[in-house]
Amino acid sequence: MHVPSLIEKKREGDALADEEIRAIIADFTSGELPEYQMSALAMAIYFRGMSAEETASLTRAMLESGDVFSWPEGHPPIVDKHSTGGIGDKVSLVLAPLLACDEVWVPMISGRGLGITGGTLDKLEAIPGFNVNVSQSDALVQLEQIGVVMMGQTADICPADKKLYALRDVTGTVPSIPLIVASIMSKKLAESLDRLVLDVKHGSGAFMKTAENARALADAMRAVGESMGVRISTVLNPMDEPLGRAVGNALEVQEAIDTLHGDGPGDLVAITLDLASEVSNTSREQLQQWLNDGTAWNKFVAMVEAQGGDATCLDRYEEVHRAPICRTIEARENGTVSRVDAATIGHASLELGAGRAKADDTIDFAVGFSEIVKCDETVSEGDKIAAIHARTEADAERAERQFREGLTIG
Ligand code: URA
Repeated sequence: MHVPSLIEKKREGDALADEEIRAIIADFTSGELPEYQMSALAMAIYFRGMSAEETASLTRAMLESGDVFSWPEGHPPIVDKHSTGGIGDKVSLVLAPLLACDEVWVPMISGRGLGITGGTLDKLEAIPGFNVNVSQSDALVQLEQIGVVMMGQTADICPADKKLYALRDVTGTVPSIPLIVASIMSKKLAESLDRLVLDVKHGSGAFMKTAENARALADAMRAVGESMGVRISTVLNPMDEPLGRAVGNALEVQEAIDTLHGDGPGDLVAITLDLASEVSNTSREQLQQWLNDGTAWNKFVAMVEAQGGDATCLDRYEEVHRAPICRTIEARENGTVSRVDAATIGHASLELGAGRAKADDTIDFAVGFSEIVKCDETVSEGDKIAAIHARTEADAERAERQFREGLTIG
């Protein structure tokens, strides 16, 4: 293989053949193909794009760079959900145990938050003792017992994606649809799924700013998944205001606990049921009932216990992570809320310490926002429109200023 010719081929907008893509990914994973050539190729892909066939070849090559889950004969349907990420998105914490109330297995591999969007693994680790580093054999035992496991990507799953994502991150090549599709789908398809629902966000707090781009991403992910025999559903959801009323790791875990007790905010409950119904065997009404009658909650507790978490603290969870400052924000005028900007609140939450600026930063589980007012709600001057949880008064002051900048009451 003459790599410079392949880079030139893509630079000129020609399609790479399946065997060329496979050879590139194999050599890049082994270290034979240097990062400067892979960076140049990623940039050529960024500008020239890839056909559906090339994107499928790239996904398959990345998937085959590592281990894939194998399931025993006669296993129940293997189902999962992937979200392209948003602000206040704690759906996975509710949806995974809810789905497992049905006769399916949910081996959910999740990621960490980076930038303004939160990550499911960080939220799970806000539960004392919860272990997200689960081996494939332990995952299988847990699925046989309770039908759900929530874990991180192990070193053996899609090593090509790990290397390529790190390279894209520092070479301006993250926002490329074929590269995003191959990255996301290779990891999800490593779970050897039967059904996958994709929650593709668009708006200020999302990766894709417009519904049109979100649709293009959703269609490309669906094409790749279906070409590998997985039943794919796609749901587009706006991410202009935070999902639910809480943003910040422990605050979101608390909101998920409330939702699993049948007392969640309407938008979070609706999206969870929308997504779950796409991959479940059962009806939306039955799923709603399992949220309301404690069945999903019991499954969540079983999962926390199975993964070493302290389930006894879940009943008094607000005491586990309590930030020293809790500041109430009050409306300064009467009117109807027309904007609660997700990106602004995501940035403010990040600066409070809830997220990471770099992959190895530590995060503060306790900080963030709760009781956030929703769009279309009517408020009067003096009404509480959010609470800020902060380490210092200076942090709370800055977060209040930012929150007000993201708010429009008209
Ligand atoms: N999430 C991923 O896992 N990969 C991408 O490329 C983008 C989002």
